[in-house]
Amino acid sequence: MGRRVIHLDFAPPNAIENPLEMDETLEAVLRKLNRHGSYPGLFKKAFPELDTITTPYLLYALSNTRPCWFPPVPPTIRYQLGKGSLTEEERQGLDLFKAKCATCHSGALFTNQDYANNGLDTVFPDRAAPGSPKAMPTWANSKVPSLRNVAHRTLYARRPV
Ligand code: HEC
Repeated sequence: MGRRVIHLDFAPPNAIENPLEMDETLEAVLRKLNRHGSYPGLFKKAFPELDTITTPYLLYALSNTRPCWFPPVPPTIRYQLGKGSLTEEERQGLDLFKAKCATCHSGALFTNQDYANNGLDTVFPDRAAPGSPKAMPTWANSKVPSLRNVAHRTLYARRPV
């Protein structure tokens, strides 16, 4: 499975099975959950009809909880919503960002949802975004990632696989 997922519901199986992330199998994770001291009881509380935690229940539970995890609202978004002010340095940064970055990293999610080559690499070990539902316009383009709360992440851009 590719490292970039295009829908939130596909994020957990990708994170579980991707060799660069948990490098597990869904079956092994289910075995661990079913043997765990607390999870079987918690799942039973959420799904009274359940005897064993199975893939559909696990994914359903994850799909329901993930959208509830709200990351902090970035100062730029608060500013755009008219609910906060920026320091002089932040305002200059926003101007620079609008001038140099916002053609691709645009809108509230800081992505135009398109594909582009950010020009950092000249050698490409893999086809970017394999299996992407959108035809790749040119070789070595990559999905423009959201930069929302980028400072809270530690993994940037593609890594050779
Ligand atoms: C031509 C379109 C384009 C422009 C303009 C652009 N980017 Fe990007 N950016 C991308 C693409 C495509 C990627 C993904 C590259 C990859 O995964 O190899 C990316 C990745 C990133 C990432 C890594 C994010 C992550 O989660 O992996 C950061 C940070 C970033 N850009 C910041 C900027 C900044 C700051 C500017 C302006 C100085 C900028 N970008 C201008 C297309 C663009």
